[in-house]
Parts: sequence; C-alpha cells; structure tokens
Amino acid sequence: MLRSLLLRASRSGVLEHQFRKRTFSHRALSRFMPGEDLESAMSAAEDLRDHGIGTVFTCLGEEVTDAGEADGVVAHYVDVLEKVDGRALDTQISVKPTQLGLALGTGHGNTTDGFAVTLRNLERLTRTAAAHDNFVWVDMEGSEYVDATVALVRDVRSRHENVGLCLQAYLRRTPADVEVLRDPPTRIRLVKGAYREPASVAFPRKRDVDAAYMRLAERMMNDDAFMQQAPPVFATHDTAILDALLALAASNRIPRENVQVSMLYGIRREAQLRLAASGITMRTLVSYGSAWYPWYVRRLAERPANLWFLVKSVVRS
Ligand code: FDA
Repeated sequence: MLRSLLLRASRSGVLEHQFRKRTFSHRALSRFMPGEDLESAMSAAEDLRDHGIGTVFTCLGEEVTDAGEADGVVAHYVDVLEKVDGRALDTQISVKPTQLGLALGTGHGNTTDGFAVTLRNLERLTRTAAAHDNFVWVDMEGSEYVDATVALVRDVRSRHENVGLCLQAYLRRTPADVEVLRDPPTRIRLVKGAYREPASVAFPRKRDVDAAYMRLAERMMNDDAFMQQAPPVFATHDTAILDALLALAASNRIPRENVQVSMLYGIRREAQLRLAASGITMRTLVSYGSAWYPWYVRRLAERPANLWFLVKSVVRS
C-alpha cells in the first residue's frame, strides 16, 4: 500500500514542487547522491575506483517532451564520455529512453517521431562511447515503453556491440525478452523493477518477483554463450539472491571476476566493498542532476524504512 502511494507521489508535479523547495529534502537526498553536478559524481567515482569498484553514471531526467532538450542530454553525455576518458575512470553511462526522446508525441515510443529521435540519439551516444572504448546501458522505464525500448536496443545492437539493456524481473514478459536478446547476444542488466505496474503485467507479490529474478538469473548463468559473449549484470542489493548466484557460479565453474554485480550509490556500501574485495566485478550506479524528484521517491518506495531518514531530516531542519 505504502509502496503504491509513494510510486503515485513520484509522478505528482504538485508534490515535486513542494518537496524541492525544502532544505530537509536536499539533506535526505544526499544519502543516495554525491551531489547534483557531474564533478560530484566524478569525485565519487575516483573514491570508488580506489576501492576496486567501477561506476555507471546517470544524469537524472525522464519524460522529456522537447526534441531540443533531448539533444542537450546527448551533448551532456558526449561530454561525460570525454571527461571520463580524460580522467581514466572506469565509468560507463546509463540512459533513460524517455530522456533521449521516447516520450515525444506521447505515443510511448510507438509513434515514429519519438522512436526516430531516440534511435538517432542512442546511436550517436553508442558510437561516441565506442570511440572511447566505453559502454552504454539503456534503463528500462514503465511497461508502456518496453516494446519500443527493446526494439531500439536491438536496432543499435545490430551495428554496435557496446550497448546493453536493463530488464525487469517483475514483468511477466521478461523471460521472452531475454530470449529475444540472445541473437545477437546483448548484455542484460537484470533488476527487480521500480515502477507502479498493474498485476496483469507485473507480479504484485515480492516473493514472486524474487523467484522470477532467480529463474532469469539462472537461465543466463546456465548458458555458456550468454556468459561468454554478453555477460549479464545482476543489479540488486538482495544479498540472499547474490549468495545463491555466487554458489551457482562456483558449481558452474564460472570465475568470480566473470560475475558482475551492480548496486546504487549509498545503498549497502559495506556489501559493495566486500563483493569487490572478494573478486566480483562490482559497479556502483551514481546518479546526479537536478531532476531527482521522481527517482528519489522511487528509492523511498523500494524501502519505506527510508522515510525515517526523511523524517529525521525534517526534524533537524
Ligand atoms: P529489494 O528491494 O528486495 O532489496 C533488497 C535489500 O536491499 C533490502 O532489504 C534493503 O536492505 C536494500 N535496499 C533495496 N533498495 C533500497 C533502498 N532504496 N534504500 C535502502 N536500502 C535498499 N529499476 C528499473 O525499473 N529500471 C532500471 O533501469 C533500473 N536500473 C537499476 C540499476 C541498478 C544498478 C540498480 C541497483 C537498480 C536499478 N533499478 C532499476 C532499481 C531496481 O528495479 C530495484 O527497484 C532496486 O534495485 C531495489 O531492488 P533490489 O533488487 O535491491 O531488492
């Protein structure tokens, strides 16, 4: 119930306006974000690099409704790829399709304008990343965008190897999408899923989502072609799932460094350090940017106990 309320709040412009004005909200936010600017993310990446942890940068923003704004996002990420290279950081990028234009024309990417603009933008970013020997991840957003997002990534993947896609275990359709992404082998970042979805498209119960995650992860780990040609990334803070996957890797004789795990900045930092120290390939996703409201409220929805941090910040303000 609380999760559902929070996910609804994440889409409210009125609440966003109120929330952004308060100092306490910025203090609470700092738990999940090193800062709003790129330089803060760069400093965090340098610190994590010193602990053997790579990074993925996301400049927050979504549902862009103006093609010029989407062009600005592309220009920003081109700059990021150049700066990351210049500072020898092991930092990939992760982009939201609706930030690159998929919501243009409000057809959820099913209208030609939104799809064409996003395809052009993703192609440009992937080409630039290839020139810097880097990689582009594509986030998965609400279920209304999944068809278009899978099609976009498959289109770009037919020309470039350095693009991968996030898939959400809570969606009933995801096992079929995993099969579609086998040819050509496309890297998958597997998450549980963070949006508000009807029961007809997503499992409503957490235990069913966890079980679906394990089945999908096992499917990928038991497939040599997948593991060698398009190594998946298990993006979860669920240490019970990760322990089970590490046991499976050991029994399949998959070297630890071939197991790739990703977590969010500020969440389970000790586990991130421990996994990296144990030889797992670990990456932290670092978010920055001023459009943090919907993203931050989705983090609250993932763990309503986080509301206490918010309450404490209110009390201290
Ligand atoms: P689960 O929610 O079961 O959490 C397991 C444990 O982790 C919790 O018990 C708690 O201890 C800790 N934890 C989890 N979330 C926390 C939080 N917010 N605050 C504090 N502790 C927390 N989603 C999506 O729909 N599209 C996407 O593109 C992405 N991309 C993405 C990239 C990366 C690198 C990660 C790690 C996650 C995403 N997600 C995402 C978010 C994902 O769908 C999911 O909502 C969160 O990862 C939380 O789910 P867990 O798998 O961690 O499990």
